[in-house]
Amino acid sequence: MIRFILNQKIIETAKPAGMLLLDFIRYHEHLTGTKIGCREGDCGACTVLVGEMVSGELRYRSATSCLTPIGNANGKHIVTVEGINFQDELNPVQQAMKEESATQCGFCTPGFVMSLAGFCLNGKEPTYENAIASIDGNICRCTGYKSIERAAAKVAAIMQQRIEEEPTVFVSKQKILPEYFTGIKEKLIELLNQESRIRQHLTPVRFVGGGTDLYVQKHEEMVYAAVDLLIQKNELNGIFQEGTKCTIGSAVTVTDLAESTIMQKHFPDLKKYIKLVSSTPIRNIATIAGNFVNASPIGDFTIFFLALDAQLVLSDGTNKREIALRQFYKGYKQLDKQPMEFIEQISFELPTTKTRFNFEKVCKRTHLDIASVNTAINLNIVDGIIMDAGVSAGGVGPVPTYLQKASAFLKGKTISEALVQETIEVAQTEVSPISDARGTEAYKRLLLGQLIKAHFTKLFPELKVEQLLAQ
Ligand SMILES: Cc1cc2nc3c(=O)[nH]c(=O)nc-3n(C[C@H](O)[C@H](O)[C@H](O)COP(=O)(O)OP(=O)(O)OC[C@H]3O[C@@H](n4cnc5c(N)ncnc54)[C@H](O)[C@@H]3O)c2cc1C
Ligand code: FES
Ligand code: FES
Repeated sequence: MIRFILNQKIIETAKPAGMLLLDFIRYHEHLTGTKIGCREGDCGACTVLVGEMVSGELRYRSATSCLTPIGNANGKHIVTVEGINFQDELNPVQQAMKEESATQCGFCTPGFVMSLAGFCLNGKEPTYENAIASIDGNICRCTGYKSIERAAAKVAAIMQQRIEEEPTVFVSKQKILPEYFTGIKEKLIELLNQESRIRQHLTPVRFVGGGTDLYVQKHEEMVYAAVDLLIQKNELNGIFQEGTKCTIGSAVTVTDLAESTIMQKHFPDLKKYIKLVSSTPIRNIATIAGNFVNASPIGDFTIFFLALDAQLVLSDGTNKREIALRQFYKGYKQLDKQPMEFIEQISFELPTTKTRFNFEKVCKRTHLDIASVNTAINLNIVDGIIMDAGVSAGGVGPVPTYLQKASAFLKGKTISEALVQETIEVAQTEVSPISDARGTEAYKRLLLGQLIKAHFTKLFPELKVEQLLAQ
């Protein structure tokens, strides 16, 4: 049985764990406020909230129900637009949308309202910027965004009145969301204390993280597939530091990574990098391990962690082995991994005061797009000399590429404009981009060169920026 709370109702279902939450909500529970737009995570019409107990606290995040298997709802509170309605009146989020004329056909509106309700519950600083960031995964085709932005500003202003209260308590007291939210924590604890068994298969056809790649690519097949739901396993969660080593569990999502104090401390620009990756509801469910195994040549976290020389622990449930991420890719979508092996852990050495790290990404549009070319660099510098270097690039070959020659070339050198130019020349000899929808071969080569320059100009502002980028 899969058990979860849907709005106020306890659900116990023997439906296949791979069935989509969106289909369960609409076709089984007949809650049709949650809309179907793209079924690919792009439009946000299907946005729901997922409440989950984390370290004894109830935490809410938005998610695209069109990419979420119901098995991943187990033990959680799923909130649809019906679950935030009051009986006779609009809630202040809906009221703000109405007052600002932020809706026309209304198809996208439940998604926007849910994302803004998620903003009210997520405990983040109630700034206008954060309110806008919460709707970065929602698309509207007919209203235009200005009125929606004004509605978001109104919601942010309401939330600025919260001082210290728990978000769930505040939103209930202020009648932003219905009162039942205050009782959900106890109900979830009770639910989690009951034994809940999701059928585990001896031969899982598919390991599933967040499902954001799988359900886009194999939507039909996944519904009845035997699934092994990795984010349901507590032991695979968490980001830990031991000495200079950081370990990331395979259930860790992109948002977990962004909110990790360990990561924020060691990568001061992390939030900027992560803003360029998908959208809030996708980041809330997508895992880092899923990004690696998907093996897309432009996977953002694959590129990020290739530069850091991350190591993977692979397990088949009995035996474990370690492999470097740099050795993991054997050809287009071919991995050094047996079908029964899953990534259990990712580890890497944290940057020190001697380390300089940077990540760059260029897409056709800035947000909610995959890269044309992305790249990361990790330099270890002592007394002005590069002692060690890791440079990676995506979109320049059939696999996410560790630029072995460019990295080796940098070792033992001192930073100069000439070195940047020479590194680019070396890098060009080890990449083989192809022309496709994201750009021609020549364009991608040009991008790679410009992004390598961007690394150096960001990390070493003393270099002559304009001169370098103009070359
Ligand atoms: C709208 C949208 C925007 C996106 N934007 C970006 C973007 O900007 N940048 C980017 O890099 N990606 C992007 N993606 C792709 C995707 O979100 C990421 O690749 C994500 O990290 C995949 O993680 P997941 O947990 O959802 O993987 P899943 O879909 O659950 O799994 C992906 C693959 O990995 C396998 N798998 C998952 N976890 C494990 C494990 N621990 N061990 C072994 N196998 C495993 C699955 O079997 C499957 O083959 C986007 C996707 C969508 C839908
Ligand atoms: S239906 Fe478009 S994001 Fe889910
Ligand atoms: S109101 Fe029509 S799509 Fe947004």
